[in-house]
Amino acid sequence: MSTPLTPVITEHWDHPDLFTLEGYRRTGGYTALAKALSMDPDAIIGTVKDSGLRGRGGAGFPTGLKWSFVPQGDGKPHYLVVNADESEPGACKDVPIMIANPHALVEGVIITSFAIRANHAFIYIRGEVPEAIRRVANAVREAEAAGLIGTNILGSGFDLKITVHSGAGAYICGEETALLDSLEGYRGQPRLKPPFPAVAGLYASPTVVNNVETITNIPWIVNNGADWFRQFGTEKSPGFKVFAVSGHVRRPGIYEAPLGITMRELLDYAGGMREGSEVKFWIPGGSSVPMLTAEHLDVPLTYEAMAEIGTMLGTGTPMVFDQTVSVVKAVTRWLEFYKHESCGKCTPCREGTYWITGVLQRFEEGRGTDPDLDLLNELCSQIMGRSFCALGDAAATPFPAAVKLFRDEFLTATTTPVDESFDPARSYVFTADALEGVNA
Ligand SMILES: Cc1cc2nc3c(=O)[nH]c(=O)nc-3n(C[C@H](O)[C@H](O)[C@H](O)COP(=O)(O)O)c2cc1C
Ligand code: SF4
Repeated sequence: MSTPLTPVITEHWDHPDLFTLEGYRRTGGYTALAKALSMDPDAIIGTVKDSGLRGRGGAGFPTGLKWSFVPQGDGKPHYLVVNADESEPGACKDVPIMIANPHALVEGVIITSFAIRANHAFIYIRGEVPEAIRRVANAVREAEAAGLIGTNILGSGFDLKITVHSGAGAYICGEETALLDSLEGYRGQPRLKPPFPAVAGLYASPTVVNNVETITNIPWIVNNGADWFRQFGTEKSPGFKVFAVSGHVRRPGIYEAPLGITMRELLDYAGGMREGSEVKFWIPGGSSVPMLTAEHLDVPLTYEAMAEIGTMLGTGTPMVFDQTVSVVKAVTRWLEFYKHESCGKCTPCREGTYWITGVLQRFEEGRGTDPDLDLLNELCSQIMGRSFCALGDAAATPFPAAVKLFRDEFLTATTTPVDESFDPARSYVFTADALEGVNA
């Protein structure tokens, strides 16, 4: 095995009390906060910029750069909003982070708020995971009681309030501006950009929206520095990543490794494919990114290498499917999900997901024709780049990638053997089993 695992965020997940303040402190928790509060906030932003950390929510936007867009000295309140809505089919890494080590997230929130001069931070958590909500809310309470949140934190003069907010089960509320509308009490629908949240976000004030894993990296970067972080990964994709491997592998679970590890290596860590299984197709990060096949197993899992082969790293939560899975069924289930979750605000996505799903169902029933494949490609191209938010693009992604690789299967759909018990739209469901073999 050439690329070793690098447990950093997950290093102490085997400590049974890591989720408590005492347990986290025993591992060095909150030392980064003390260091950060003695620094100039701009120096923290500079360190995060130099580290090259890229957002782990899917798009990979440089985190330090995003923070630097927040105007300073504008007299407005600033906000930090942590996106903990994790609802993409296949994505399951933020929920385990919040359950296993909620204080690392809270420490990252306090440091980030100090850096961007925010006195109120929100953690917007997917409503269907009460374990995560309980753990994070408890961590916030413990930190408050210890004087790590509140007024004059550790005598620094910095004040911070953290609100833990539970979502109500809409995938679109993971889109950052829909999330802000939802937080403000409105129906969660995306806003027109620009203005971007860094300039006019929550309550029309400068707001940084970052993913759970992004913010959880911050204490380690502050404590160890940008050069330390850059020794992992590649020039354009520095650092390590909490990869969540699911599907037909022997040991699905969380594997933290440097960016640049390959899927073949991750597969080895996950115990290989199940007995009798071989890789038919796999998806690097959530159902919104184009699928790949076994021939791509040796491509480094970095933002740049994935883009070169026409896909994306996305959330870095690979799903691996074996020969028992019908590509037609998998794509149809995902499109049913996007159709259901489309917020309806714009026509290409609202109408397009409805029509794509209908035509895909024809293929599932063995009634699809060759011209129908062209019709589907045309429908997808009418959504891609023409929708109000990236959910539309996500919905237009699975089919074109699938038909390029498995055209014949669409035309012989009814004769394809299928594993009826395997529902890829539900493969993101978090189970205790998924944590077994963590960094084994
Ligand atoms: C439909 C949709 C759902 C999304 N869901 C999430 C999510 O659950 N968590 C997340 O961090 N980002 C999600 N995003 C991306 C966010 O809009 C945003 O880019 C991200 O929170 C920024 O954080 P980062 O820079 O730390 O990656 C979603 C985007 C779309 C279009
Ligand atoms: S692309 Fe879909 S989810 Fe996004 S605004 Fe349009 S209808 Fe809503």
